[in-house]
Amino acid sequence: MERTEHTKNILGLQLPTDPRWVNLAGISLQAILTDHAWCEQKAATSCITLVQRYPDKIELVNELSPIVTEEWGHFRLVLQELRKRNLELGKQRKDAYVNSLLLFQQKGGTEESRLLDKLLLCALIEARSCERFKRLSEGLEDAYLRNFYRRFMESEAGHYVLFLELAETYSPKEQVRQRWQQWLQHEAVIMQEMELRGDRIH
Ligand SMILES: [Fe+2]
Ligand SMILES: [Fe+2]
Repeated sequence: MERTEHTKNILGLQLPTDPRWVNLAGISLQAILTDHAWCEQKAATSCITLVQRYPDKIELVNELSPIVTEEWGHFRLVLQELRKRNLELGKQRKDAYVNSLLLFQQKGGTEESRLLDKLLLCALIEARSCERFKRLSEGLEDAYLRNFYRRFMESEAGHYVLFLELAETYSPKEQVRQRWQQWLQHEAVIMQEMELRGDRIH
C-alpha cells in the first residue's frame, strides 16, 4: 500500500517520546517481557477480530491477515527470550490504558465511523508500542536486548502507518484527520489521569 503525503504529515506531527512510557528503574525483565508478550497477543487478536468483523473489506482482510502472523511471531519471539532466561510468562495485567481508550470508541454512528474508530484505536496502540520499544532499545543495559527492541520498534512503526492508511481507505481524509486529533487529545487526558493516579503505563 502506498504511503500518502497525508499519512506522513500525521506521522510527522505527533508522538514525541514521552519518558512516562518506560520507567525502567524498578521493573524486572520478566515483567517487561511478560507485558510485551501480551501486548503482541492483543495485537494479533485485534487483527483477527477486524478480519472476522469485516470480511467484505478486501484491503483490510488482505493487509491484516499477514499482520496476524507477524504479531503472533512477535509473541513467540518474546516467549523464547523468557524461556532462554528461565523466566516465567506471567499473567496478563489489567490494562487500564487500553480499557480507557476503548471507552472513547463510538457506540452509535454509522458503520463507517465505527470502523474508523477501530482502525484509529489500533493505530494509536501501535504508535505507543513503537514509542515504548524505542525507549527500551535506548534504555536497556543489555546490548542484545536493545537490538531486540529496535527490531520491534521498526515493525510496530510500519503497523501504525498501515492502520492510518486503512482508515483513509474507508473514510474521507479530512474525517480521518479530525477524528485522529480527537483521539490524540483524549489519549493525552488518559495519560494525565494515569500519571495522577501513579499508574504504570506498561
Ligand atoms: Fe508486534
Ligand atoms: Fe504491531
